[in-house]
Amino acid sequence: MRVALAGLGDIGVSAHLPALLRHPGIELVQLVDPDPGRRAELAGLGIPLNAELDATACDGVVLATPPWVTPQLTVDCARAGLFVLAEKPVATSMAAAKVYDQLDERWRVQVGLTYRHDPAIGQLAAWIADGTLGETVLVRAHIYDEPFRPGDAEHTARITATLEHGPPPVHEGAHVFDWLTHLLGGEWTSIDDQWAMQTRKDLPTPNLGGARLTYPGGHQALVEFGWFTGALPRCELSVLGDRGLAVLDGFTFDLTLTTAEGERVVRFPGDRATRCFDRQLDRFVALYNGATADPSLDDGLAALRTAQLVAGRPAC
Ligand SMILES: NC(=O)c1ccc[n+]([C@@H]2O[C@H](COP(=O)([O-])OP(=O)(O)OC[C@H]3O[C@@H](n4cnc5c(N)ncnc54)[C@H](O)[C@@H]3O)[C@@H](O)[C@H]2O)c1
Repeated sequence: MRVALAGLGDIGVSAHLPALLRHPGIELVQLVDPDPGRRAELAGLGIPLNAELDATACDGVVLATPPWVTPQLTVDCARAGLFVLAEKPVATSMAAAKVYDQLDERWRVQVGLTYRHDPAIGQLAAWIADGTLGETVLVRAHIYDEPFRPGDAEHTARITATLEHGPPPVHEGAHVFDWLTHLLGGEWTSIDDQWAMQTRKDLPTPNLGGARLTYPGGHQALVEFGWFTGALPRCELSVLGDRGLAVLDGFTFDLTLTTAEGERVVRFPGDRATRCFDRQLDRFVALYNGATADPSLDDGLAALRTAQLVAGRPAC
């Protein structure tokens, strides 16, 4: 499969590029970014560098572009006949996501809900489904990332620009609400409350926020998201039931299960980013070979709709 990478920024270069170069079923044929500085940094790779995508020279494209750019690019690329792996979130609001209504080729679009592919999420889903933790569970998702480092101008500018397009529940919620649907047997049945707060006056939007949601079977989720404080609480997801507690480390995805039988740590081979970006590309090649998109555009839109409601914005 001939694939182009569009978006040579942080996640494009640090995670998608090495995964694309490693994958035996993929030939990386084009690197695309309108920013000449970003292109110049990759000149040594010997892969054609373009300011705009040449859709005639590839079968698929990975879009590691900002979420306010990704929706129209996804539509244009899918309509040009390309298979698309589009980064999350699929848009910054349901209004911005309206552009996907133009798309008859939705089946060609896979969404970069990368960590859905981790075996740790599968293990956690199995412990919830088979009653290892109890009949009904409380999920506590504490998602804290992107510490404020005033000396790092690139990071500060990138995160500030991202916050201008929506608060952390929109950006991080893309992953978390998708996991919750996957773990708890379906979409939430109610959003019971929500909160948001801003820790510095100069921020464009609240940088902390959360909600309580109810899922089928009475499972509950307490979710908290936070970006851009000088120090961060632990990032982890814990699942508590009558019979046990499972804790997923938010960065390594190591799992710790505590039950009456004792404590057990489950650790999967390799680092989380490498295994998830590799598995994500396995799915992308499978899509090219006729499998269904996983996660699909509809999965990405469902997570965005929840995130927007949690962020206190009507999901029009
Ligand atoms: N899946 C994950 O785990 C994960 C992790 C981090 C970020 N992300 C997502 O990836 C996306 C990019 O994040 P980032 O931190 O790398 O941003 P970034 O700003 O560092 O990089 C984005 C790049 O896209 C380029 N770009 C803009 N318009 C373009 C166009 N029309 N064609 C090609 N390139 C274009 C920019 O010049 C920039 O180089 C965001 O949506 C973010 O939420 C996903």
